[in-house]
Amino acid sequence: MSAVPVAAVETLEAYAAETAGCTRCRLSQGRTQVVFGAGNPRADLMFVGEAPGFHEDKQGVPFVGQAGKLLERLLTGVELGREDVYIANVLKCRPPGNRDPQQDEIEACEPHLFRQIELIEPKVIATLGNFATKLLSGRPLGITRVHGQEQPLTIAGRSVVLYPLYHPAAALYTPAMLKVLEADFARLPELMGRTPQPPAVVVPEPEPEPAVAAPAEQLGLF
Ligand code: URA
Repeated sequence: MSAVPVAAVETLEAYAAETAGCTRCRLSQGRTQVVFGAGNPRADLMFVGEAPGFHEDKQGVPFVGQAGKLLERLLTGVELGREDVYIANVLKCRPPGNRDPQQDEIEACEPHLFRQIELIEPKVIATLGNFATKLLSGRPLGITRVHGQEQPLTIAGRSVVLYPLYHPAAALYTPAMLKVLEADFARLPELMGRTPQPPAVVVPEPEPEPAVAAPAEQLGLF
């Protein structure tokens, strides 16, 4: 993990507290609460999804529904857990009926995301799906074109590697997309500058020698 000054971590908490009362767009009227983000404030790897859904809005934590379970499984596959990464969304409040984010909502909310990036200072930002990818790449190219292609970029004044991925919710019911997402995920350790860990080889314990006394001839006594 990168060494972030303690003051920066405190500021992330302070910023979350400030954001809890946000009224920058219409979504403040229908939300249960702001879903700021969760995980390690010093993470080298940050995920950015789209917007909270029903469960996230109720619990105040991103990716706690079915898509979140898949995200956790994918993380486990590269020997990471939620506690190792930071997870946030483009929008911090649930759009009604989980509809797509609207452009004015994205513009109203993006200062929160850019401030999070400044404070967390991740090395790699993995965008999940079209909305996060288009916002952070600054390009209109869709996720099908750019998934799995890392791009060095300056975001919020920091050099980062942007790594677009399919959104786990899209992969949940499309096995072919899940395969691609798994393959793209497998490159995360390399992009974070870590050596991918080969699967552990379990060496079997040697069998204990049978406790039978060897005949005297074999012991060379005669
Ligand atoms: N989908 C998202 O994009 N974000 C969440 O937090 C949950 C589902």
